[in-house]
Amino acid sequence: MPDKSAIYADNAATSFPKPRQVLDAVAAVLGSMSLSPGRSAHRFSLESSRLIFDTREALAEFFNCPDSSRIAFTCNVTEALNVGIFGLLGETLHPGDHVITTALEHNAVMRPLRHLEKTAGIGISILPVSGEGEVMVSELPRLMRDNTRLIVVNHVSNVTGAVADLEAIGRQKGEAFLLVDAAQSAGVFPIDVVRMNIDMLAFTGHKSLLGPTGSGGFYLRPGFGLRPLKMGGTGSNSETEIQPDFMPDCYEAGTPNTLGIAGLGAGLNFVTGTGLAVIRAHEQRLCRLFLDGLAQIKGVTVFGPPADRERAAVISLKVSGKSESEVAQRLDRDYHIMVRAGLHCAPAAHRAMGTFAEGTVRFSFGFFNTEADVTACLAALEIISGK
Ligand SMILES: Cc1ncc(COP(=O)(O)O)c(C=O)c1O
Repeated sequence: MPDKSAIYADNAATSFPKPRQVLDAVAAVLGSMSLSPGRSAHRFSLESSRLIFDTREALAEFFNCPDSSRIAFTCNVTEALNVGIFGLLGETLHPGDHVITTALEHNAVMRPLRHLEKTAGIGISILPVSGEGEVMVSELPRLMRDNTRLIVVNHVSNVTGAVADLEAIGRQKGEAFLLVDAAQSAGVFPIDVVRMNIDMLAFTGHKSLLGPTGSGGFYLRPGFGLRPLKMGGTGSNSETEIQPDFMPDCYEAGTPNTLGIAGLGAGLNFVTGTGLAVIRAHEQRLCRLFLDGLAQIKGVTVFGPPADRERAAVISLKVSGKSESEVAQRLDRDYHIMVRAGLHCAPAAHRAMGTFAEGTVRFSFGFFNTEADVTACLAALEIISGK
């Protein structure tokens, strides 16, 4: 049983709690149908195929994807980003080509890109961030080159909570392939792949889409091919030993995570049923309350955009004279408040914000947090800061 006195403020790592419907959906699927969709022709297998189809359709509608077959499931956004970055090599991206990314990327983007820099001679330019941790899209034209083939952008920073202006990037991207990491934004901020001119949208199921870990996927615009990272059984074209070349099968080798996809579908259903605007407004209210309160606590420094700007409820801070791990441990031990301390798998972002190598203490509020949670976090920080 979850500890009722605990305050969970680590939703940027993974959302908690999950809606009741998600737990029910996972249990129902586990108990009532075969988990092997698209393989056998019996009723149980067909039911799980239908469930996966329905979730694909719901995701396509949610992100305004013109064709649900252009959505492939992966086990998280890291896998989706790897499929995108490595899959482009030899297709859209060739040795010597140029890539633009931002100073706020997670290692799920930076590690594959640095690998290609080293092994395939890809050149990388970094869009800088402002002092308030926002990507400076105005710098994009200056960085663009004739051989810029790929732009990779984190929609919402998991360090500063800043929101990248995807529409502006989509307008200015020219012929380059735009790959968006929507790990922190999907389920809170509206995403429209057509309006934003996104070629590939990578998302994870277990954060604000409220599904279980092990679920995620991507949308790939028609007309683009990616070399699949893995090949194997797809339940389709079984007469040939060649990987299918059509979506989504070409990227979904192996029995899928039917349980995870069922939970993701139920999480998405909760999000759409509640309303994205309602979720966003609630998180915005919590974020503003927290930032306003922090401004009253001496010895606390906040990194990221101010409350009156578009930002997510992901707030990085430092307490003067205290290490990040000490603050996080005291919050947990003395106040049952769970946060994350350190670099949040995004060393580039901390370098840009001047908080490398010790990092920050990160509070991230979700839809199930309350104003009372925020007030309790502020009260604890006031005592810990000792000011
Ligand atoms: C911006 C960003 N990208 C990628 C990831 C990786 O997510 P996952 O572990 O679900 O692949 C995270 C998770 O913290 C993130 O915040």
